[in-house]
Amino acid sequence: MTTQYFILTVQFNGKSYTGRGCPNKTLLENIEDMSLPIRSSCRRGRCGSCRVQLVNGELDSDKFSIEDGELLSCTTYITQDTEVAVSYGQKITRRRKVVAELA
Ligand code: FES
Repeated sequence: MTTQYFILTVQFNGKSYTGRGCPNKTLLENIEDMSLPIRSSCRRGRCGSCRVQLVNGELDSDKFSIEDGELLSCTTYITQDTEVAVSYGQKITRRRKVVAELA
């Protein structure tokens, strides 16, 4: 059986990076695979150091929405193309989903 990968976009301190999101790895592991220096410690959903903000898409997390779309990347899995933001001291801009109307 082949694994279906997704597109993972990460806004990291104001810059955008795109990589392959593997559904069998946590979001934290996927972001680390992109060589982005995301913070982590316990890797079990306890310390909160791996927080990210969901910008676009949906994620499977058992600790979702700590506050306003923030989640713990170490306990979260990718289920579709997704964009998240990691910001250490910078403001995160959330994108709004645009739905085009057919004429
Ligand atoms: S690394 Fe501690 S909550 Fe994710």
